Amino acid sequence: MKQPNIVVVGSMNMDIVVKTSRFPGGGETILGDELHFISGGKGANQAVALARLGAQVTMVGAVGLDSFGRTLMTAMADNGVNCDYIKITEQASTGTASITLTPDENNIVVVPGANTKLEARDVKQVETLIQAADAVLLQLEVPLATVEYAAALAEKHGKFVILNPAPARPLPESLLRRVHVMTPNRTELEALTGIDLDERPLEEAVDKLLDSGVHCVVTTLGSEGSLWKRRDGSLQRQSAYRMEVVDTTGAGDAFNAGLAYDISADRGIGDAVAFAAKVSGLAVTKFGAQDGMPTMADVETYFHE
Ligand code: RIB
Repeated sequence: MKQPNIVVVGSMNMDIVVKTSRFPGGGETILGDELHFISGGKGANQAVALARLGAQVTMVGAVGLDSFGRTLMTAMADNGVNCDYIKITEQASTGTASITLTPDENNIVVVPGANTKLEARDVKQVETLIQAADAVLLQLEVPLATVEYAAALAEKHGKFVILNPAPARPLPESLLRRVHVMTPNRTELEALTGIDLDERPLEEAVDKLLDSGVHCVVTTLGSEGSLWKRRDGSLQRQSAYRMEVVDTTGAGDAFNAGLAYDISADRGIGDAVAFAAKVSGLAVTKFGAQDGMPTMADVETYFHE
């Protein structure tokens, strides 16, 4: 199989994780169990996961001139990600994500900081790398104008565009029609389409995205697996693997990395979704979004490939 070559344009955050038995109520103070500082950010997590799978990865992101920024860059470089195009800005501090992790679920508040300083001209710097890449992988934790520019540059060079629309926000049709594969979860699908999935079938929302120009929608549904549909196809289902869950933070990032890896290796969308389910299944068995990303050897060993 050829080595996938992917440019990731996205966020880098220091995850400040508090492990606790339950979420506090409004106005309530509770005692937590553990505090961890872990490298994160959807873009960075996806880049590291790709590198661990064996892809050639360039990260386009931004951090502040501070110790969090240095730690994030070191973590990415140690994983083999090309960090030459990560901007270090004095205009803002490195992004943070305050994560409360209970045994059942997590919630996250992101303060984007330096991520807001990632501009189209920073993406322009990697035009030759995009030209040489198989795909560009995007999320929505950096300015929309930057995401739009990256998609336009990818289109100019005939490259595959994968958009993980997290956190969800309204997207212009000019961006949607450049996206080959979009990977919303259920909440994001509702936010993007305005369709209440308690009232209407999920396929209606998927079709709305396909009608607005996206070529293929892969909806991730946690333990219920994922559903995918191409413009010219029917709704397909991929089951999730039943794993011992330690931390679901970053499961979506692992899924997107697996998907981008296989698509870039010229595998079909069905195979890519199946591989993505394996990568995200293994990611939840370890603590920490970025730290928990599996290597290709982990995937092959566990699933006997
Ligand atoms: O997807 C998980 C990530 O979301 C965390 O690492 C956090 O930084 C937020 O960006």
